[in-house]
Amino acid sequence: AVERTLSIIKPDAVAKNVIGQIYSRFESNNLKIVASKMKWLSRQEAEAFYAVHRERPFFKDLVDFMVSGPVQIQVLEGENAIMKNRELMGATDPKKAAKGTIRADFAQSIDANAVHGSDSPETAAVEIAFFFPQMDIYAGR
Ligand code: CMP
Repeated sequence: AVERTLSIIKPDAVAKNVIGQIYSRFESNNLKIVASKMKWLSRQEAEAFYAVHRERPFFKDLVDFMVSGPVQIQVLEGENAIMKNRELMGATDPKKAAKGTIRADFAQSIDANAVHGSDSPETAAVEIAFFFPQMDIYAGR
C-alpha cells in the first residue's frame, strides 16, 4: 500500500552537508518527498517528539543531541514507505547497520546516527502530524 512516513536528518548529518546525498537515496528508491523543512528544535519540541522514550536511560543524551543543531524534516510517500525507509536507514546502531545503508555510510554512533524514521503506521501518523499540518503536505502534485 502507499504509505507516508516521517524522516528526520539529524544534526550530525546536516553538519556533514549530506542532506542531498540522503535525499538522493530516498528518490532513487521511489520515496517521494511530499513535505520538507529545516528546523532547529527547542528542547521542549525534542522532548515532546521523543516522549515515548522519556523513561529510557538514553533520553537526556538523545534530547541534548537533537537540539545541538538544525535538522531537516521530511514526509516520504511511496509503496511500503515505512519499511522501505527503515531498510534504507539500516540498524539504529551504525556499527550494526548493513553495508550501503544510510547509517553505515554517514553515522558515527547510536546517538549521532544520521537519521530517524517512523517505525509503524501508528507512529508515522503521530510523527507526521507533530511537524506538518495537512495543508503543508503536497502529495500527488
Ligand atoms: P531514533 O530512531 O531517532 O529513535 C530514538 C533514538 O534514541 C535512536 O534513533 C537513537 O539515536 C537513540 N538511542 C540512543 N541509545 C539508544 C538505545 N540503546 N536504543 C535505542 N535508541 C537509542
